[in-house]
Amino acid sequence: MENTSQTSPETPAPDGSADGRRNFLVQAAVSTVAVACLAVPAVIGLVTALNPLSLKSRAGKRVPLTTLDELPEDGTPRKFAIIDDRTDAWNVFPDQPVGGVFLRRSGKDKKEEVVAINATCPHLGGPLQYQETDDGGKFFCPLHSASFDLDGKPLDKPSPSPRRLDELDDPPPETKLDGGKQVVWVTFQDFETGKSTKVPKT
Ligand code: FES
Repeated sequence: MENTSQTSPETPAPDGSADGRRNFLVQAAVSTVAVACLAVPAVIGLVTALNPLSLKSRAGKRVPLTTLDELPEDGTPRKFAIIDDRTDAWNVFPDQPVGGVFLRRSGKDKKEEVVAINATCPHLGGPLQYQETDDGGKFFCPLHSASFDLDGKPLDKPSPSPRRLDELDDPPPETKLDGGKQVVWVTFQDFETGKSTKVPKT
């Protein structure tokens, strides 16, 4: 018996013609491309809006953090939150915590020189703490138990951290007399984690 079920590119479409089938396929392809063109920016926008890691603050901004008399004269560090606006593609979120910084007096007489260290661990971004020790204190990251001296140098051998702590020294903190008080100004900056050198985040 003759087989009547074989198909070919010229198999007629439901309207009974090969042209009808070709038109149907062309329209389907055009629709698919159009949907993809609309979907890609929409997905990117959604990810940007929902992912807090994609929010950006205005790094490199000089801010007044405290007054000099709030910093212990023996050089013990104090931690301060950095508050700034965060922005995404469409919105501004005012007054959000965007990071932290340790300030401490340093130098020979510990009078006016102030050192600022970013309070984020350069390994994988853990929150640094200050811990008192018998020999003057250290910075500690609880995420992978890394310790650093007060100048930011790793104390572990080997250290989990690929580099020393990130000093905010470009430009360094400065004190300015304002209303009878020495106000400490700091330029805050975050850096890439997991790298052996300090790379500013943009
Ligand atoms: S994140 Fe600080 S030691 Fe790993």
